[in-house]
Amino acid sequence: MQSRGEWSSRVGFIIAAAGSAVGLGNIWGFPVQTAQNGGGAFVVVYLIFTLVICLPVILMEIAIGRRTQRNPVGAFKALAPASAWPLVGGLGVFAGVMILSFYIVLAGYVLGFFLECATGGLERLSTDGEFAVFAGSVGKTFAYMAGIMLATIGIVVGGVKGGIERATRILMPVLLVMMFAMIAYMLTLPNAGKGLAFYFVPDFSKLSMGVLNSALSQAFFSLSLGMGALITYGSYVSRKDNIASSGFIVALFDSFIAITAGLLIIPSIFTMDPNVTAENMPAGPGLIFVFLPKMFMSLTPSIGYFAASFLASFFFLLVCFAAITSTISLLEVPTSWAVDERGIRRGRAALAMGGLIFFLGIFSLLSQGASDFFTRFITYPSGQTVDFLTLVADIFFESALPLGGCLISAFCAFRWKRENLSAEIAQGYPKYMGSWQEKALNAILYVLPFILFFIFINTVLEKYFAVEIF
Ligand code: PHE
Repeated sequence: MQSRGEWSSRVGFIIAAAGSAVGLGNIWGFPVQTAQNGGGAFVVVYLIFTLVICLPVILMEIAIGRRTQRNPVGAFKALAPASAWPLVGGLGVFAGVMILSFYIVLAGYVLGFFLECATGGLERLSTDGEFAVFAGSVGKTFAYMAGIMLATIGIVVGGVKGGIERATRILMPVLLVMMFAMIAYMLTLPNAGKGLAFYFVPDFSKLSMGVLNSALSQAFFSLSLGMGALITYGSYVSRKDNIASSGFIVALFDSFIAITAGLLIIPSIFTMDPNVTAENMPAGPGLIFVFLPKMFMSLTPSIGYFAASFLASFFFLLVCFAAITSTISLLEVPTSWAVDERGIRRGRAALAMGGLIFFLGIFSLLSQGASDFFTRFITYPSGQTVDFLTLVADIFFESALPLGGCLISAFCAFRWKRENLSAEIAQGYPKYMGSWQEKALNAILYVLPFILFFIFINTVLEKYFAVEIF
């Protein structure tokens, strides 16, 4: 039996889990979704969901992981032998593979923007239409994606403590400082106020079931929830640690970074494009790849092209690191599965899984304009035609994560039982027993599976069939 490894301390776990949570979901996904879903009202719903729905699921996942010291499949096997529950873990492992396969494409773009800004390409990247050209240049994007995958495999092979924790500890604070400096600059530009209003003043008439679905999926994705990443990371947590407060800190920090990224990107759209209104918001995956280069380019008259390029490349480098601390956790899930369940050595498991995921990622890469077949891959019954990457994201990000959350909470409520959940959370936090937190979690425990099931069904109906129940 190989030793499974453990985080160096409670802080070590918090850093690694925050590293997993903070990634493209915050810096790219959250602003894109906010722009698409009407601004402030989306932000409010997102925060409520994070606190009321996601935080309980975070605690459940960490508790299951720490209780069993296993990967998601092994964890359900340990707690519910000879039942169908391990399939929930299997779904999670599979979702991890699929999510990572498209995530490396986007992370590769970020790496590419770093390298190209560092070598004088900022001006070109800030011109209209350039992002589509970039995404269609398969030769380059293939190499960038390979770079991300290799870095990820390298760190995962390095193991829990040495690799994952150490990398995250340094990079996250730097990213935060840089974002705040950029926000301060951006707020001095004309029209920033309009962007702030769009972002912070909720217009609840914009709320629809579709907005709720998106907010929930986005919150799950951003928190790395619903697929067992936190079961896996929780399996390396010491019995002496307080997981309730760790989980809370991670959720808080993740939301803080998402809100900060939105604060940077949403108003910058208004400052770069004087004609934008809440009604004709540009949205879509290209958002940060289109507006951030423009914003950096706008610095040129005051600080010069060299300095502007330097800042741009530095920023994309930090985002790239944030993405890699997430890709690590995504690869760690199937790797720990292969190690625990199949007895494969850690290094080999990471390499094999990484190779498989890279192969799958090629189809998503080709679907961004390079291959017509993958770019117009499938037409949903709703009539919408989507590319391969969007299809994978729709299935495994938008749909599978809320379903995973539903099943995990159903497992805790009806199979594992709340006494066991409470007892596990109380390990390292004895005051939990009888506290208001325990009462609140127990109260929500039994409704959560139903709420999540309802939202899952809604998401499926809306996404693929364009049916809105409300
Ligand atoms: N939370 C990560 C992000 O926001 C993505 C992720 C999802 C990581 C699921 C692990 C598991 O970018």
